[in-house]
Amino acid sequence: MEERSIIEVLKANKQEKLIKYLKTLADEERNKLIENLEKLDIENYFKIINKNRDQTAILFNKIEKPFVFEQGKCDIKKYKKVGENALTKGQVAFFIVAGGQGSRLGFEHPKGLYPISPILQKSLFQIHTEKVAAFGKYYDFSPELFIMTSSTNHDETVSFFNDIGKDWYDLNKIHFFKQRDLPSIDLNGDLILSDKLTIFTAPDGHGGSLLALKNNGMIDLMKKKGIKYFSYFQVDNPLINIADPVFLGLHIFEQSEVSSKVLPKRSPDEKVGVACIIDGKTSIIEYSDLPKDLAEKKDENGRLLFNFGSIAIHIFSVDFIDRITTENLQLPYHVANKKIPYYDYETNTIIKPEKPNGIKLEQFVFDAIPMAKNAIFYETIREDEFAPLKNKDGEDSIQTCKEGISKLFKKWLKNSNINFDNENKAIVEISPLFAVNEEQFASKIKNYLTKVPNKLYLE
Ligand code: UD1
Repeated sequence: MEERSIIEVLKANKQEKLIKYLKTLADEERNKLIENLEKLDIENYFKIINKNRDQTAILFNKIEKPFVFEQGKCDIKKYKKVGENALTKGQVAFFIVAGGQGSRLGFEHPKGLYPISPILQKSLFQIHTEKVAAFGKYYDFSPELFIMTSSTNHDETVSFFNDIGKDWYDLNKIHFFKQRDLPSIDLNGDLILSDKLTIFTAPDGHGGSLLALKNNGMIDLMKKKGIKYFSYFQVDNPLINIADPVFLGLHIFEQSEVSSKVLPKRSPDEKVGVACIIDGKTSIIEYSDLPKDLAEKKDENGRLLFNFGSIAIHIFSVDFIDRITTENLQLPYHVANKKIPYYDYETNTIIKPEKPNGIKLEQFVFDAIPMAKNAIFYETIREDEFAPLKNKDGEDSIQTCKEGISKLFKKWLKNSNINFDNENKAIVEISPLFAVNEEQFASKIKNYLTKVPNKLYLE
């Protein structure tokens, strides 16, 4: 697009402020900013923003309680065999969405770099990658690991792996790719500058991961390698069992195209997506979109009607993602009001606002669930699989996450009847290289240990 056409697009979208600013710039600078707008496919962006900016809530006619496969009530043995078979045949890959920063933790780096394990201070990335390596050994295959980054954190993530990641796993098996960025607008509808010559952009939400997989050739790579399913998870949860054969077997046996792990919510207002049926389709609705009265509503047994929260662990069938991304996938956009630092060209300074001043658009990966055949919810146990690292303090914080890791391994030790010197004081960290699951742990631990000291690390 030429400069003239870009200006026309800006005019058509009432960007008078920016047009005026462009006129004040010297030729070279103006060209740079025009180039930036062109790269961002600004015309298309305005189509998206005009359609979505006034959206306040997700609209639906009917919302119902979903069916959930409960752990104690399904044929674990049958599903486990099916899942193990897929793993040993190398049909499973791993996918971490890691486009976010650790800003809420006061850590201005990719969140995956955050040192979280309670004794060795391993990063989230190290924990996940060691699990990939260890599960590969356990099931005798060489898994591919896909990691989605964003333009904010791509280079730092890749350098981190290049520096130390080779000690965790074969770097040739790790595939990094970036998600798309979208510009934001301020509350008056004007594009925001992050510095003198750059339009502010932000990652398009983890829903962007599906098209990013496709457009970066990752789906083709999976197909070429005979991968039929991928295990999707967020970088922020170190407890996840990335290769749960029962969950995988359930997905395969029931011919599901996407399966999701859920667990009973801690309280009606816990900040997790909620499993439900919306207008007849299996769905997850984000906590912020579920009206308060429905979030608090009880069923005939006094349990929350929408009791099951999503912990963002999914199995996707590769064919499903290939199909929907080939057929012009259009996930909805969710609007969030955010505090966005901006370049103020009148004072030539960067301003950090105290109140939300802009609108970000994000897509959510779980909005693909209603498009899937036989989508499944499977219940898991919080202390076994969910200790997310979200906040600096309070709930889901650095401390609760570290405690969650130690607590799980203490449970494994107790189940194996190993006594503690002092159970309350003990801090325990088990490397996936020692045991990938409780079963392997129980078969090894008696040869290693008769009593648990106050600090225990095993590898
Ligand atoms: C998320 C889910 C919520 C779920 C909860 C479980 C959303 C909107 N909500 O909440 O339903 O119950 O986790 O822990 O996701 N990410 C990207 N690119 C992006 C945005 C996010 O890769 O553009 C990644 C982050 O790196 C992180 C994950 O997605 O790994 C979650 O993002 P975050 O914004 O922290 O979601 P939550 O609000 O915690």
